[in-house]
Amino acid sequence: MSEGILLPAATRGELLDEATRMARLHEALPQIRAAVQGETDAVALEATLACLLWETFVQANWCGFYRRVGESMLAVGPYQGTMGCLRIDFARGVCGACARTGQVQLVPDVHAFPGHIACDDRTRSELVVPVVAGGQLRAVLDLDCPIPAGFSQAEADALLQLVQGVFAGADVRW
Ligand code: SME
Repeated sequence: MSEGILLPAATRGELLDEATRMARLHEALPQIRAAVQGETDAVALEATLACLLWETFVQANWCGFYRRVGESMLAVGPYQGTMGCLRIDFARGVCGACARTGQVQLVPDVHAFPGHIACDDRTRSELVVPVVAGGQLRAVLDLDCPIPAGFSQAEADALLQLVQGVFAGADVRW
């Protein structure tokens, strides 16, 4: 029986200082990897990561996945937070830019990002990480924050490494 992960108490919506956030993330990461160890179903992996990353990133107002459902279309997948847009074309928004380029998008001010999609108009900053497996873009991991500059490059790097490790296996069923 899983009991989730153990982390110091923190308040939803609070932007902890970067050192505290990284300490929290480094405490969470081995627990997250252990929780999904051996799972091969993509939705089970996405749902569990959405849940546990939501516990870790208390500054987030949205945390979850958009799955690739066509040549250039994303549809919402497992997430936590306020209601997300259901579909996002690769041509649109921060998630679309990540899906189109395969590059991490770290956006300190979404109002300055051309074409940003305001699913929740309180969102001020965003981090989107590509999920690539077998050389194909399969999904993106999206985190939103109601505070400007809510995510750091070190958090982006750690999340990219996490999703690469979790989803890279040839045995993940999409
Ligand atoms: N803001 C995102 C859309 C997704 S949601 O905010 C959950 C974007 O511009 O891609």
